[in-house]
Amino acid sequence: MAIRQDLAAEFMEIVDSLTMAITLDRERRRPLSYLTSGKDMSITAPPFLAPDMQVCQRSTLQDVHEELGDCQRCSLCDKRKNLVFGEGSCRAEVVFVGEAPGADEDLQGRPFVGRAGQLLTKIIEAMGLSRPDVYICNILKCRPPGNRNPLPEEIRMCEPFLVKQLEAIAPKVICALGTFAAHTLLKTDIPITVLRGRFHDYHGIPLMPTYHPAYLLRNPSAKKQVWEDVQQIMKRLDETKNVQRPEIQGE
Ligand code: URA
Repeated sequence: MAIRQDLAAEFMEIVDSLTMAITLDRERRRPLSYLTSGKDMSITAPPFLAPDMQVCQRSTLQDVHEELGDCQRCSLCDKRKNLVFGEGSCRAEVVFVGEAPGADEDLQGRPFVGRAGQLLTKIIEAMGLSRPDVYICNILKCRPPGNRNPLPEEIRMCEPFLVKQLEAIAPKVICALGTFAAHTLLKTDIPITVLRGRFHDYHGIPLMPTYHPAYLLRNPSAKKQVWEDVQQIMKRLDETKNVQRPEIQGE
């Protein structure tokens, strides 16, 4: 009985947050695409790049890296050991987006190489892929001190580079790892418990939010849900096997 009450309370909390988020999004005239089933998103001729991302000439990942340079745009540069740009295939069909580098990533200059990263690698391999097949990056490119949450100003400075990376790769699917990546990319504050499990629209690219691997280390029982989410990604990739993607300049 006590468990039922807990579940009912949790359910009511989710309903309340969803109602509040829908009201806010409606007020701000943001798209309410999360209210439609992921199945409704076209899989026959996905745009991959929304019109607003189809700028005159798309940059390559290398161009984006060069433009970022030895970034000093926010104060995170003072304490970082290495900037973590992201790694993987420039033609990846799936891009995984996390929050920000941690201590291990800061030391090595590579994303997801610590304990959470090892779990992400296992997830990718369980999908029948390998790290070099996909692309892995973060909302922020520098480690926030003590792994604190990224600040709005840091995101404002860093997000344009992530947008350009996604534009350069034009993946078939984006997987947002954890609350922070999902909220930043989808511009919403709906709980990850509500967002995960179905595709959302990110500028014409299907985006699947799921739990962050670091959360899975603390809550192994949530692995089942992550597995369900990545299976949907695998199904989507399979369904779009024969769909052509935009050419990359200079390829
Ligand atoms: N957590 C993240 O969100 N990103 C990393 O690169 C490592 C841990």
